[in-house]
Amino acid sequence: MAEKKFETNAIRTQLDRTKYSEHASPMFLTSSFIFEDAEEMRASFNEEKDRNIYSRFSNPNNTEFVDKVCQMEEAESGVAFASGMSAVFSTFAALLDAGDHIVSCSSVFGSTHGLFTKVFPKWNISTSYFDIHDTESIEALIQPKTKILYAESPTNPGVDIIDLELLGSIAEKHQLILIIDNCFATPYIQQPIKFGAHLVIHSATKLMDGQGRVLGGVTVGTSDLIRKIFLFSRTTGPALSAFNAWMLSKSLETLAVRLERHCANALLVAQFLEKQSQVNWVKYPFLPSHPQYEIAKKQMKLGGNIVAFEIDGGIESGRNFLNAIELCSLSANLGDTRTIVTHPASTTHHSLSQEDRIKVNITDGLVRISVGLEHVDDIIEDIEKAFLAV
Ligand SMILES: Cc1ncc(COP(=O)(O)O)c(C=O)c1O
Repeated sequence: MAEKKFETNAIRTQLDRTKYSEHASPMFLTSSFIFEDAEEMRASFNEEKDRNIYSRFSNPNNTEFVDKVCQMEEAESGVAFASGMSAVFSTFAALLDAGDHIVSCSSVFGSTHGLFTKVFPKWNISTSYFDIHDTESIEALIQPKTKILYAESPTNPGVDIIDLELLGSIAEKHQLILIIDNCFATPYIQQPIKFGAHLVIHSATKLMDGQGRVLGGVTVGTSDLIRKIFLFSRTTGPALSAFNAWMLSKSLETLAVRLERHCANALLVAQFLEKQSQVNWVKYPFLPSHPQYEIAKKQMKLGGNIVAFEIDGGIESGRNFLNAIELCSLSANLGDTRTIVTHPASTTHHSLSQEDRIKVNITDGLVRISVGLEHVDDIIEDIEKAFLAV
């Protein structure tokens, strides 16, 4: 059969039907699986037989979800996790030894930053950071014990873009493992493996679920690396539940169609914001004013659903803007059907000093909007009204 397209694979990749001939995949809410006899059990535990044994490390719903993500990212293999952070932690912890070194983009998700600064130093694993606007400095940070090159693109919450092709060539030249957190783009918009990434991580909690219901994470990439990550997670137990895997696999069926609308709405919101006098700047990958617009166009199919802008007047204006929002939600999640507005300086990044916030491009007036699937006229009306209160 001819190779099928992204949307078709997302819908038609499915577990073998059971004797009940169900149309959609059933949920396998079982902690373990049974064997015909002692020999089958022995062969399964010794991996001579590809069998589900115990849901901490294999379950049909997880398999279906991971197979879909592998197809979408064009990856050889993958592992599912209970959350995005368990995917990030397990991926690094499985591959690093005491004394190893990471080179990371400085603008990474707050909890990932916490791993680098608070958790990994306990095992003498250190991290050096490069500024997303100064990619020429990356190679100088590489040390003999550097093992991983890490970045997010677009970044959270600044919506900066990094040249994945450039990272791929640096990783190849220095024999590093390139890991990309592709959560903000999703594989429908960007496939980092095509640019040289060895592993791609997702918080499936975000656009993959897309409806703010379940937590999940997934890492996909080359079989040799995934094998190490699988063995680490089999022992340590950060497994995705079968229920959440079932939800996420269902959600992937509509990823493409949801993202088309998310991105169309986000572009209109970004264009609206650019015209507002109280806005100092707007960052959206597919606005020609974005500093890395050309790179975004090269590696992304659409601009994503996250828009960042700076409201004039700093922290106070940011807080007033949020207080005047009525339709959109004030919430910590993103990538939901519901539009979500956040003010990082007074919430997620309040513990950083102003100086440290500026270093990662989080200014006092920065507002992040995760544009949802409500009618765009209603989203814009809500934002327009909130500006009157600032
Ligand atoms: C870029 C990025 N990576 C990882 C995570 C962590 O995902 P989770 O909340 O599912 O643990 C998040 C959460 O917001 C994120 O934005």
